Amino acid sequence: MKAIYLVLILYLIKRKMAFTLNPQSLPIESKKLLVPGLPEVAEVIKKNLKTNFAEVSVEVVDCPDLTQQPFTLASPGLGGNTKIVELGGNPYLLPVVHKEKLYDLKDIAKLIKSDPAFIIGAGAGPNTYIGVNCEGIYNLLLSNGEVVNQQTRISKVDSNDDKAIQVTLPQNETRLALLGNLFVSEGKPGKVLKVYAKKRTGEDNFITSIRNAIVKEYKELVGIGGVFLLKEGKGKFHVMRDFSKTPIENEDQLNKWLKFYNMSAPLIGVGTLVNNDGGPLDLRVQHFHSFSHHGEAGHYHYDTTPEDAEYLGFFNLGEVLYRIDKPENTHGWGRD
Ligand SMILES: *[C@@H]1O[C@H](CO)[C@@H](O)[C@H](O)[C@H]1NC(C)=O
Ligand SMILES: *[C@@H]1O[C@H](CO)[C@@H](O)[C@H](O)[C@H]1NC(C)=O
Ligand SMILES: [Zn+2]
Repeated sequence: MKAIYLVLILYLIKRKMAFTLNPQSLPIESKKLLVPGLPEVAEVIKKNLKTNFAEVSVEVVDCPDLTQQPFTLASPGLGGNTKIVELGGNPYLLPVVHKEKLYDLKDIAKLIKSDPAFIIGAGAGPNTYIGVNCEGIYNLLLSNGEVVNQQTRISKVDSNDDKAIQVTLPQNETRLALLGNLFVSEGKPGKVLKVYAKKRTGEDNFITSIRNAIVKEYKELVGIGGVFLLKEGKGKFHVMRDFSKTPIENEDQLNKWLKFYNMSAPLIGVGTLVNNDGGPLDLRVQHFHSFSHHGEAGHYHYDTTPEDAEYLGFFNLGEVLYRIDKPENTHGWGRD
């Protein structure tokens, strides 16, 4: 009789607990990135941003303390052992979700030998924590394998009224599902790119314009990560609904499943961009998620108020790229 209870309890625990993948089982590739001098990259970005914004300034500065308002990052700077990390990918979400693709960022930090590891970026949030699929706006500092500062938000669609709800993760929740584009550093102060742009006059949004600058200039792989504030105006964002019961086969079905919002500044975006997909590395070329201090958070597409749009960002270059658990069967859609 006792044995039956034990089996039953173990079964219930197993159903409730979602296990993260064994890090030793994860395929991992790494590649040195091209690291041009920051002053050179500043000029390259300035030139291209000027074709899209009326007011532009790009400088190399000592990083301000990013733990302060409005940024409230988990560590003050973007310096020290900088890495661009892509985990999993969209093929684990579309057309059919691979729920077993669940990673622990503590394991990932160990795998890439980052300690301390200041991790910021865009990914799918831990559905195992909140009970439904969600966006993850990652922003945490790990040291010695422990969370020192947790500022990660998730955003989910309320099943009753379709409103987006932002939640701050508890200190001990370090799981990430399915896919992630992360900038990892030691979070140290140091030189960074300060990028300011106001009043959009062109087609390209802030991040696309920065990316296109390095697309035009560099053939070798260059990676940039950091944080930007949409200071004024509104933007188009999405939040993923809970996992679809039927496969999502194309962009049309995807856009019906995603819930789109006009979210209002100030919004703080974190993520990465690269100048190309790295060929066999199959990289997502840009990915930023934003959170706020007024309850809104989601996946950034672009601003929808060109007249009012105002941006302020701090970025650094990645020295090494890590591609972890790359999907074998890939496809290129749904990466906007
Ligand atoms: C975090 O701590 C809470 C409270 O102690 C616990 O219930 C939960 O299972 C922990 N979460 C993880 C991912 O370890
Ligand atoms: C956002 O605002 C624009 C302009 O007012 C409108 O056309 C669009 O439908 C809105 N989108 C959403 C998702 O509410
Ligand atoms: Zn996203």
